[in-house]
Amino acid sequence: MTEVVLSGIRATGRLHFGNFIGAVRNFVLYQVPENTCLYFVADLHTLTTLKDPGEMRGNLIEMVMDWIAAGLDPEQSTIYAQSSVPEIAELSLLLSMLQPLGDLKTIPTYKDLVRANPNNVSLGLITYPVLMAADILGPKATLVPVGTDQKPNVELARELARRFNNRFGQTFAIPELMEEMVRVPGLDGAKMGKSDSGNAIDINDPMEVIAKRYKKRGATDPKRVKQNIPGEPYHECLSVYPVHELITPGEHDTRTIAKACMAAEIGCGECKERLIESIAEILEPFQERRRELAERTDEVREILVEGGKKARPLIAETTAEVREKMGVVLYA
Ligand code: TRP
Repeated sequence: MTEVVLSGIRATGRLHFGNFIGAVRNFVLYQVPENTCLYFVADLHTLTTLKDPGEMRGNLIEMVMDWIAAGLDPEQSTIYAQSSVPEIAELSLLLSMLQPLGDLKTIPTYKDLVRANPNNVSLGLITYPVLMAADILGPKATLVPVGTDQKPNVELARELARRFNNRFGQTFAIPELMEEMVRVPGLDGAKMGKSDSGNAIDINDPMEVIAKRYKKRGATDPKRVKQNIPGEPYHECLSVYPVHELITPGEHDTRTIAKACMAAEIGCGECKERLIESIAEILEPFQERRRELAERTDEVREILVEGGKKARPLIAETTAEVREKMGVVLYA
């Protein structure tokens, strides 16, 4: 099946190991000649929570460097900044006319942010999912790989697409959600990167630093207070064995580690050592490519310019179609 794959990440910070494994590694897997892949930095969405302009500008470039070093290939994927395609904002406005306000208030991510900051609820925050629908529907995406927390937003985009098609005639493909991004636990066992738990692994930290963080702070099976007590890797280990499952190559190797833990043949220290080896196998080549790219910010800007040039006509075409179907005429 050929798919139009689309996903975006907000420029709130650098990528961490959880994003790397959970999201970007999947983005790379979709990059096959049959698919059209579009990956963008959702900078307008970032404005709902991030206030420092310089920080966002910097994050955007750094993030694209991380993507490319992780294997996104600008020849195979269209990589762009959301704001470089102003038609997305126009499409969002047009779609907002079909969106009941009440539904927006029930979106869990919105409710969480309102709860955290009740006196600072902007219009942009409540229309966040409509802008996201414009991101998705603009290039008529068929497949949207996202984390579980984004499910209600994608569902809303699907409903908007259906509503538009019903009212104005077949226009949009109904995008499928691809919820295969895995949950990567951080050092404390909670989802990596969530809140200010400091539980994230920075993919650009030297391996010695990463090793030290796992050794000092990586939470394992809390009941296994001594090495001769058998561990429970599958259900109780918080942050080490679950990551083996995600990244240690070969079913055989991960199972051997689990068995050795359950038989109290290896301790948490050794399990961590092995995990650090698996992480190094992934991150060392990444970090080398990333260091080379760091010198070439102009090239990264050029990639974004080229990506914008490819994405914009696609999205502009859909926006014109939507505008016309809704009866809006551009006297230009
Ligand atoms: N809201 C998404 C997040 O926080 C980012 C995003 C914006 C996105 N637009 C999108 C993801 C379109 C997928 C498709 O993770």
